[in-house]
Amino acid sequence: VCLAQANTLQLPCVAEYFAAPQTLSQLRQRLAQARKAGWPVTVLGGGSNVLLPEFLPGLTVTPAMQQWWLETGENEVHLHVGAGVAWHPLVMEMAARGLWGIENLALIPGHCGAAPIQNIGAYGVELADVLEAVQVMDILSGKLRWLTHAQCEFGYRDSIFKRALANRVVITRLVMRLTRTPAPRLGYGDLAARLGKQPTALEVAQAVSDIRREKLPDPQELANAGSFFKNPLVSAERAERLRGKYPSLPSFPQADGRVKLAAGWLIEQCGLKGRRSGAFGVHERQALVLVHFGGGTRKELLEVAAWVSGEVEATFDVALEPEPRFIG
Ligand code: EPU
Repeated sequence: VCLAQANTLQLPCVAEYFAAPQTLSQLRQRLAQARKAGWPVTVLGGGSNVLLPEFLPGLTVTPAMQQWWLETGENEVHLHVGAGVAWHPLVMEMAARGLWGIENLALIPGHCGAAPIQNIGAYGVELADVLEAVQVMDILSGKLRWLTHAQCEFGYRDSIFKRALANRVVITRLVMRLTRTPAPRLGYGDLAARLGKQPTALEVAQAVSDIRREKLPDPQELANAGSFFKNPLVSAERAERLRGKYPSLPSFPQADGRVKLAAGWLIEQCGLKGRRSGAFGVHERQALVLVHFGGGTRKELLEVAAWVSGEVEATFDVALEPEPRFIG
C-alpha cells in the first residue's frame, strides 16, 4: 500500500500490509494476525508529524475509531474521543458548543490518537492541560488499559508514548476535561490583540486558525510536517549570555528554570528563511517549517535538516532536535 498521500510531508513510502480498524475488536484481530505472522507493527495516525521510510515491513495500522461523546457534569464536561477522530473538526465542534479547553489548539492537523504522543501544543496551551486519561491497547497481548494523566509523563512535545511505551501500545481513546465556564487563554503572541474583551471559545479558535493560516503552509498546498525542530531548552545562564550578544533573542522562561528559545528565530537569523535546496526548503513565512516541493526522499530531507541545524549550531552553539517522529 502506497502511503505517500498518508503523510503530510508526502515522502514516498510503501507499507507491506495496511489496516484501518474501526472498532477495538477489529484492531485486536489485526494485531493478533501480525503477531502470528511475526510482522512488526507500525501505528500511524494522520501522518502529519512523521518521517516515513521508503518501505515499512509488516503491518501498518491506522486506528479509525470515529466515535466521540460528552459526559456532562454541571460545569465540567468530559469528552471521550476515539483515536481516529480528526483533531481540528473536533476542536471547532467543541468551541461552537461553548466548551472551553482546546480552542487554542485549532487547526493542528492529525488524528486525536496521535495527540498525546507529542503532547500537541500551541498558543500557550498543551493537550496535557486538559487530558485526563488515555486508553491503550497492548500490541502484543491485545489487552486494553487506561493511563492516568500522571502516567502519561507529559513534557514539552514529549510523553511516555515516545519513550517506555513506544512501539508497545496503540492509543485507542482519550478523555479530556472541558468546561462551560469561559476560560480564554490569550497570553501568547498577538492573540489578545485580535479579540475583544470577552471572546467566545469559537472566536478564540477562529483567531488561532487565522494566525496559523498566515504563518504555516497548508499541507494540502505545500507538503510539510509543521515545525521541523523542537524549540531548544537551555539553562537560564546560557540564555542570558545569548541575550547579551543578541538583544532581540526571543526567550520563554519555563517552570523548571530553563529557558525555551525560538528555533524559528535562530534559523531566520542564519539567513535561511525561504532558502531552498533541491526538493526541500525552509518555509518563507515560518523558518521552523521545512517544506517539500515534490519528488524528494527522506534522505534528502535529512540532509537539508542537517544543513539548517549545522548553521544554527555554528552561529549560536545551540543544538536543534527534529520534532517529527522517525518511523522505521
Ligand atoms: N520567529 C522568527 N522567525 C521565524 C519564526 C519564528 O523570528 O521564521 C520568532 C517569532 O517572531 C516569535 C518566536 O519566534 O518571536 C516564536 O514563533 P511562533 O509564535 O511562530 O512559534 P514557534 O515557537 O516557532 C511553536 C510551536 C508551534 C506552535 C507555535 C504557537 C514548536 C516546535 N512549535 O512554534 O507548533 O504552533 O509555537 O504556539 O514548539 C508544530 O509543533 O508543528 C507547531 C507548528
